Amino acid sequence: MNNNPLKVLVLHGPNLNMTGFREPDVYGKKPLEEIDAEIKAAAERLGVDVRILQSNAEGTLIDTIQEHRRWADAIVINPGGLTHYSIALRDALVSVRLPIIEVHLSNVHAREEFRRHSVIAPISLGQIVGFGGFGYVMALEAVLNVEREVV
Ligand code: DQA
Repeated sequence: MNNNPLKVLVLHGPNLNMTGFREPDVYGKKPLEEIDAEIKAAAERLGVDVRILQSNAEGTLIDTIQEHRRWADAIVINPGGLTHYSIALRDALVSVRLPIIEVHLSNVHAREEFRRHSVIAPISLGQIVGFGGFGYVMALEAVLNVEREVV
């Protein structure tokens, strides 16, 4: 096992900048900045190097994934609404050949039928849904454990 810190790219897709304000009964009252601070604190505790980006633009998310193909060891992504239809985002994630973990704040399986389908899920190690911002912390733990088992 090598001692280099694991590098994880965390991506938030469209509308996640509105977290804390939009539908707080569904997505929680915590603003994204607070969730990001919790991700950074967990990363420090776990000895993981994180970079975090939110974008409302599919192209920016794709550019960021491509730009990080050599830097990142894994990608944690909440693709927001793109989850349910973006083949372009899925293709970008496949192209970089990194482990992917899909996170959703809400339990997408307990909501509208269209949210149950994810084009990202089949190319992910797994999905973490319904635990709010804590889902990202769980995803970091998952990446670490998977890497330990694989390396
Ligand atoms: C979401 C679920 C998606 O269906 C929705 O479009 C979002 C947020 C979540 O985190 O629960 O924007 O990804």
